[in-house]
Amino acid sequence: MRTPIIAGNWKMFKGADEAVDFVKELAPALESYTGVERVVAPTFLAVKGVADALKSTGIKVAAQNAHWEDSGAFTSQVAAGMLVGLVEYVIIGHSECREYLQETDEMVNKKAKSLLAHGLKPIIAVGESLEQNEAGQTESFVGGQVRAALEGITPAQMADVVIAYEPIWAIGTGKSASAELANAIIGDTIRQTLRDLYGDEVADQTRIQYGGSVKPENMLEYMSQPDIDGALVGGASLKVDAFTDLVRLAAQAKGV
Ligand code: 13P
Repeated sequence: MRTPIIAGNWKMFKGADEAVDFVKELAPALESYTGVERVVAPTFLAVKGVADALKSTGIKVAAQNAHWEDSGAFTSQVAAGMLVGLVEYVIIGHSECREYLQETDEMVNKKAKSLLAHGLKPIIAVGESLEQNEAGQTESFVGGQVRAALEGITPAQMADVVIAYEPIWAIGTGKSASAELANAIIGDTIRQTLRDLYGDEVADQTRIQYGGSVKPENMLEYMSQPDIDGALVGGASLKVDAFTDLVRLAAQAKGV
């Protein structure tokens, strides 16, 4: 059984103090849902404060990016090794980073390898644009992103990898992919790609999230799909009540 994982990606919202105040309110609200892995991804600035505030709560911290080099002249960047002891997960390949920071498949792959080498767990985001979707290229594009991101990653390392399917046209637009469609891409394309690359055991154990306009109103539908193991949530993760509802509904849908 794959443990459901709900991660709040706070993007460029909530500064250091605000993020700490928020998790102090969030942690008790999420405390009882131990069958769901609960993760928050604040800005780098807030990572240390949030990690300290969440110690011994069972709620985990993710960073929103990491560089693949261990150190060097890379202004503005944060190395995987610098995050060790603070976060368990790191989101890489987010479509906003691919678009605004020109993050390529090759960079995503290098980041994934560096994170795994440091004992951190990548949440690898993939997803097609509206044009690709309308041109019927979703399966080939998303399958290609998954293959490229995982090049050289071993079956044993896959135990620490989470994949997030986030169709770009559904992010922050209020337009979500239907639960059936999301499940089909996640099951027939992404999990099938894992099956081709690594075989049944890895494919069946790897957790794959859906992301894109997930909110309490549609959460149950997504989480009731057999291949959707969790959600990567932007907007709705910024409010304690909504975040709590998302986790509660995930627990309900998965019976944990
Ligand atoms: P929204 O939930 O705001 O659509 O954002 C999704 C996302 O990009 C999470 O990484």
